[in-house]
Amino acid sequence: MKVLVTGAAGFIGSHLVDRLLAEGEEVLGIDDLSSGSLANLADARSTSTGKFTFSRIDVRSDAIIDFIKRTKPEVAFHLAAQVDVRKSVSDPIHDAMINVIGTLNVLHASDQAGVRKVVFTSSGGCIYGEPGEDRLPVGEDQFFLPDAMPESPYGVSKRIMLDYLRYFKKIKDLDYTALALANVYGPRQEPAAEVGLEGQVVAIFSRRQLAKRLCTVYGDGTQTRDFVFSDDVVSAFVAARDKGSGELINIGSGVETSVNELFAELSKITGNDMEPRYAEARPGELERIVIDYSKATEVLGWRPQHDLQEGLKQTVAYFRAHPK
Ligand SMILES: NC(=O)c1ccc[n+]([C@@H]2O[C@H](COP(=O)([O-])OP(=O)(O)OC[C@H]3O[C@@H](n4cnc5c(N)ncnc54)[C@H](O)[C@@H]3O)[C@@H](O)[C@H]2O)c1
Repeated sequence: MKVLVTGAAGFIGSHLVDRLLAEGEEVLGIDDLSSGSLANLADARSTSTGKFTFSRIDVRSDAIIDFIKRTKPEVAFHLAAQVDVRKSVSDPIHDAMINVIGTLNVLHASDQAGVRKVVFTSSGGCIYGEPGEDRLPVGEDQFFLPDAMPESPYGVSKRIMLDYLRYFKKIKDLDYTALALANVYGPRQEPAAEVGLEGQVVAIFSRRQLAKRLCTVYGDGTQTRDFVFSDDVVSAFVAARDKGSGELINIGSGVETSVNELFAELSKITGNDMEPRYAEARPGELERIVIDYSKATEVLGWRPQHDLQEGLKQTVAYFRAHPK
């Protein structure tokens, strides 16, 4: 099968490329390399024996439309995105140009090229807003609650694409599955800057602890997240290639972990004995989130295969082997 992966040089996209190649697929990878890196595709480029091609394309440009129409993949995995929640707050237009217009380009071209299915990457941490304690773990049905309101333009852009996906399926017969990912962590995740993005906390703490550098916890560290390992997330994408038609599906661990607990777990694995520094909480970040993945089990036959400790061990091993 010929498949397209947008955001192929990114953290999750590059793991997906590797898995699809291992399964014998022909993979077309595109990325504008704005946050992704060709280093992530080193294995794919060296061992794919002609089954992998990479093209540097911006999803905002007409080039993506020409590319999809010319190459006609059977399935398009759309992961390319502006992923910085805080940047979406300071520059919502830039966010929408990539996450809304760029995604529309992929959908429109996929429709015109006869693509069978688009697997879209949504965000379980953002599209439901701040759910409140009585609504945890968050199920997909909460998407339709009147107060399920994203706290950032990034969350809005990931949410409104669901309407476009439903439109293209209903009117144009272009199938889709939207995977709402929790906080993904794993090898190759690189903090975008010194402070990193909130979602990159595992990568930030791992790198800093290994380098014996002070870690900063924003807020009191009791805020919780649902951490899911990259390898498990990739399995969900592969399952969505043929299952989950027309569905929004949560992909997470179902386990609520506080930032303090995460820090302690990583300290054990890295041998860190430094306490973190606490700083003022950053606006726009959720207090608590954990998602319900039972629909993924029912529809995709998916459940996470790595618990947090196992996933963190593999992640730290990667950062140890790849110092900056
Ligand atoms: N990492 C998480 O915890 C998480 C959680 C929920 C959803 N997601 C979604 O998963 C997807 C992958 O995220 P990631 O964590 O691997 O981040 P990433 O930054 O590593 O990957 C995004 C990729 O998209 C590329 N890109 C950005 N703008 C582009 C453009 N205009 N044209 C073409 N390529 C462009 C980047 O260069 C990068 O390689 C994104 O859609 C993100 O919103 C990630």
